Amino acid sequence: MSGRFLSLEGGEGAGKSTQVRALASALEARGLSVLVTREPGGSEGAEAIRALLMQGDVARWSAHAETLLFAAARADHVEKVIRPALEAGTWVITDRFIDSTRAYQGVAGGIDDAAILALHGFGARGLLPDRTFVLDVPVAEGARRAAMRDGEMADRFAMRGEHFHADVARAFRSFASREPGRFRIVDASRATGDVTAMLLAELSDLLP
Ligand code: TMP
Repeated sequence: MSGRFLSLEGGEGAGKSTQVRALASALEARGLSVLVTREPGGSEGAEAIRALLMQGDVARWSAHAETLLFAAARADHVEKVIRPALEAGTWVITDRFIDSTRAYQGVAGGIDDAAILALHGFGARGLLPDRTFVLDVPVAEGARRAAMRDGEMADRFAMRGEHFHADVARAFRSFASREPGRFRIVDASRATGDVTAMLLAELSDLLP
């Protein structure tokens, strides 16, 4: 039996990592085997690429080079970690996946969506999540939460301006409206426990 593949997406400070952990605990409590992972990263090779992507100047990589690095990291992550887990019957929850590339490098960064999906087809054999949650918080609230968390340690993406982050938030909402079978939008400005409950409710059709 194959496990299910879930991704959590959203802008900075949406509470994705908290919810990934909370959702994993809730699924484990139902007797499921769960693997939590993240992007960029999640495998040894992809974590090495993560360091290249996250550190340094905002302009370190061109939009094209950055897109290729994300695709390469994802190819390794899928092949070495995600597919083997799913094949073993484990549920996989990832903090970000392909839709982050479509939102950040694509809509906000100007790279064509079809090109991003073609790279994903080649690198990761087009693997898509069974369900993708968009954790939606107002951009200003997300920026405030991320600043509290990161202090002076903002990475190459958090450093970008308000317009960039507003484009990212709009992009996630538009993917969700175009693909309602895979996506669910969740109001992440609610209390942590309420958000987890909403995620679980939106998984009821996939749960055994
Ligand atoms: P995070 O670990 O705080 O989520 O940071 C990852 C950053 O990388 C975040 O700002 C979003 C960005 N990112 C992309 O631009 N494209 C991608 O494909 C992924 C996975 C992340």
